[in-house]
Amino acid sequence: MANTPSPTTRRLLLGLTGGVAAYKATELARLLMQDGIEVQAVMTESACRFVGPATLQALTGKPVFTDLWDARVANNMAHIDLTRNADAILVAPASADFIAKLANGLADDLLSTLCLARDCPLLVAPAMNRQMWEHPATQRNLATLRRDGVTILNPGSGAQACGEIGMGRMLEARELTEAVHTVFQPRLLQGKRVLVTAGPTYEAIDAVRGITNSSSGKMGYAVARAALQAGADVTLISGPVCLQAPAAARLINVVSARDMLAAVKNEVSRTDIFVSVAAVADYRAATASKQKIKKTGGGLTLELTPNPDILEYVATLPKPPFCVGFAAETENLEKNAAIKRRKKKLPLLAANLAQDAIGSDESALTLFDDEGKYSLAKAPKVEQAQRLIQHIAALYEKQKS
Ligand code: C5P
Repeated sequence: MANTPSPTTRRLLLGLTGGVAAYKATELARLLMQDGIEVQAVMTESACRFVGPATLQALTGKPVFTDLWDARVANNMAHIDLTRNADAILVAPASADFIAKLANGLADDLLSTLCLARDCPLLVAPAMNRQMWEHPATQRNLATLRRDGVTILNPGSGAQACGEIGMGRMLEARELTEAVHTVFQPRLLQGKRVLVTAGPTYEAIDAVRGITNSSSGKMGYAVARAALQAGADVTLISGPVCLQAPAAARLINVVSARDMLAAVKNEVSRTDIFVSVAAVADYRAATASKQKIKKTGGGLTLELTPNPDILEYVATLPKPPFCVGFAAETENLEKNAAIKRRKKKLPLLAANLAQDAIGSDESALTLFDDEGKYSLAKAPKVEQAQRLIQHIAALYEKQKS
C-alpha cells in the first residue's frame, strides 16, 4: 500500500514510450520514489513491449495506465484526471514518433492526450537512434517543442542498442532525477550567478606526496546542485574529489589553494553570490620538490608557509559579491563560527561539526548572520543545501532592497 501523500508531496506523471531506454525509466521511478516524489506511470502500447507495466506498478505502488478508455476511471476521462493530479509530466524515453506527435498536437493515445490536456510543466527525454536524432524532421519537431515551452532533456552521446555510436542515448536515471528536482524547486535565484568552491585542495610536498584536508566535496556539490535547482547560473571550482558534478554547472577543476584562488579571481567579477565550501589547506610546503624525496631513515623537517585565504580575499574586495563561508569545527562551534564570521567580514556563515559532517551524506548546520543563528537539524546534504540556498536567497534580496 502506498502511503497517503502529504500536501507538500510532489507528484510526477512519468510517461514511457517505445524504446530500449524504457529499462532506464524503471530505475528512474525507483530513484524518484526514494526521494519522496509520488510517481504515476503511464505507458504507450509500444512501451509495454519493452518493460512490463507490472514492473512500474511494483516500483511506484500504483496501477499503471495505458489506455485512453480505461474503465477504472469513473468518469472515463483518464486524460483529465491524471494531469489534474500531476505537478509535472516527464516523458522518458520519448521516441522520435512521440516527439513528432507532441510537436503537432496529436492526441491519439492516453499519453499524448495527457500531454495536451495539461497546465503543468512538461519535460521530454528523447531516446533514439543517431540517424533519427539527427534527422531534420526530428530537430524541427524539437525546436517546435522548445518554442512551446517544453523542456528537452538532451540525450547524450555513446554506444546505442542498434550498434551505432552517437547522439540519441537517453540521459541516465540519476540525471533525469536531477531535472525533476529542478522543476520542483522555487526559482529563488533565477538568473543569479553563483560561484561555489568545493572539495579539498592538495599541496604538493614532492612529486608523489602532498598535504590535503579530509573533505569529500559532497556539501559543496550539493550547494551547486541546489543553486542550479533555484535557477542560478553556477560555476563550480572544485579541488580533487571523486564526485560527478551536476551536468548544468560550469566545472573548473583545480588542485592547490593557489590554483583555486587564481580560478576564483578569474570568475569573481561575474559573480553575484560566492559560496566558499572548499576545505582549503591552510599551509603548503615552502618549497615543493620536483623529485620524490628519498627516505633516509631519519626524521624530515618540512617548512610550511601559509596559503592565501580565498574567502577573505573575495569578501574584502571593494565591491564583493554576497559571500557565504563554511566552518568545520571540532569544538566550541558557536564561538569559533562567530569569530570567523567577523574576521572574514561575512554576511552569512554555515558551521558544522567536522567529526559529524566530513565524508557523510548528512549534516546538521548552524547558520550565523547579522540577525542571529538558525539551526538546521540533521538532514541529507542535498536537502540541507536547499535550505541554505533559501536562506541565502532571502538575505541576498534583503541586502539589495
Ligand atoms: O579554514 P577555515 O575554517 O578558516 O574556513 C572558513 C571558510 O574560509 C570556508 O568557507 C573556507 O572555504 C574558506 N577558506 C578559504 N581559504 C583558506 C581557508 C579557508 O577560502 N585558505
